[in-house]
Amino acid sequence: MYWVEMEMEQMGTWEGRLEMMDENLEALEILSHDSDKHGSIVEKWLRKAAIAIPEDTPKGLPKHIFDFEGLTSQEIFSKIVKYEILAMNAYKDMKNADSDVIITLFEDENDRTEFLEDLGQLIKDEEKHTSICNKQIGGYMKIKY
Ligand SMILES: [Fe+2]
Repeated sequence: MYWVEMEMEQMGTWEGRLEMMDENLEALEILSHDSDKHGSIVEKWLRKAAIAIPEDTPKGLPKHIFDFEGLTSQEIFSKIVKYEILAMNAYKDMKNADSDVIITLFEDENDRTEFLEDLGQLIKDEEKHTSICNKQIGGYMKIKY
């Protein structure tokens, strides 16, 4: 998840290169900015759980998921929304994880409470991101999740 957030943050670098309507750019900026924040939150918990921060692209995923060259803004947001949903589902899974697992990761009860609160916020943000993307795609596509 850390890696996905980092890639999303990189979307910001496309802003200057794309000819988009202002509304599209604004949306991209929100997504990129929030992903930056999310990356820091995920990083904080990886550190607390003493899990190494991934430096490489996880296996089975392309090196850069966001190559927007030559795409229309609809295509771009259709691409992004898949990862917003992926992120949201991953955070939901973590939030619903067995409490035994969470206890193994975080001994301190305050940490556990904060961890679950952070996940709740991440899930909310990703829900918001998904609807931002859908709005930019126009016409609500049906997505199963
Ligand atoms: Fe997001």
